Amino acid sequence: MKKNKATITAIGKYTPEKILNNFDLEKMVDTTDKWIRTRTGIFERHIAAEGEATSDMAIAAFKDMQKRFGTNPEEIDVIVVATITPDMFFPSTAALIQDGIGATNAWGFDLSAACSGFIYAMVVATQLVESGRYKKVLVVGSDTMSTITDYTNRDTCVLFGDAASVVLVEPSENEEYGVIDYLVKMDGKGKDLLYMAAGGSRNPATHETVDKKMHYIYQEGKPVFKFAVSKMAEISTELLKRNSLKGSDVGLFVPHQANKRIIDACVNRLKLEDSQVMINIDKYANTTAATIPLGIVDGYDEGRLKKGDLLLISAFGGGFTWGSMLIRWSL
Ligand code: COA
Repeated sequence: MKKNKATITAIGKYTPEKILNNFDLEKMVDTTDKWIRTRTGIFERHIAAEGEATSDMAIAAFKDMQKRFGTNPEEIDVIVVATITPDMFFPSTAALIQDGIGATNAWGFDLSAACSGFIYAMVVATQLVESGRYKKVLVVGSDTMSTITDYTNRDTCVLFGDAASVVLVEPSENEEYGVIDYLVKMDGKGKDLLYMAAGGSRNPATHETVDKKMHYIYQEGKPVFKFAVSKMAEISTELLKRNSLKGSDVGLFVPHQANKRIIDACVNRLKLEDSQVMINIDKYANTTAATIPLGIVDGYDEGRLKKGDLLLISAFGGGFTWGSMLIRWSL
């Protein structure tokens, strides 16, 4: 089979209507707008409505893609969903989305890599398309972080938001455009620093796990911060270098949005200008698997991502997992 180059041919996004800003949080926990803004860069975040789940947001993001690009759901071959907040353990969120959008000819699955989920899913989609076997792979980054956030804990509740964003990966008509290269890594030693303890087979849900608040995100912020800066900068540098590219070649850098200070430190190490960097954490906070595709859509809408631009995406997340990808933008 002929090896195809994979590229992004359509994009879409969805953010829930409800907005929770820093002043609202001041009334909920012992925090201030000033602390949140200076320590994280976040001002507001979108929160899913009661009963609105990860697949609902993904379906809405697909509808946005359909409106923009006329995507026919029946032509989709595979649906890869990056999420750590699936609607339920099974069936997969991919199956729920397949049904919801009418992708009657697609198979698919969920993929769990926390904040690196979108990059991992893009690697899988790229391989599926490059193999020549599949032509249209829908990559979904969707997380309803509000459902696993403890809104009495100021350490974490200021950091997260809900959103979904989707991209369609297809064979590139022109060899010049599409995914150039990627690097993905994992270090399971990070398991003790960022996790949700209960609900799985280790600690199935009981009254005790609920009482002990074990169904919420646990994070040791400081070490996670340090790993995130060094790993995202390291892997992006390695990826650029092995493709004989420099920071100045990058048209737009869309990093995972966990903390503006992490992004700034990374940008510093990569020697990028502010004009090369997408930052929208102020509007959405950390939406886990959705941050990068949301950044791509916003960058595109704002005219900051144009056909032929070199797009660099990079993420770090729970596991630990991290990765970067280089794409010659084709829309
Ligand atoms: N409002 C006010 N004060 C807060 C606060 C809040 N929301 N959250 C923490 N604080 C306090 C702490 O209690 C601490 O007080 P103390 O000095 O009296 O003990 C002080 O602020 C400093 O806390 P610290 O944890 O050192 O802050 P920090 O500068 O490391 O910022 C994070 C905390 C969580 C914002 C930061 O560590 C971070 O972004 N970590 C990585 C997040 C991440 O990437 N997560 C997802 C992986 S993708």
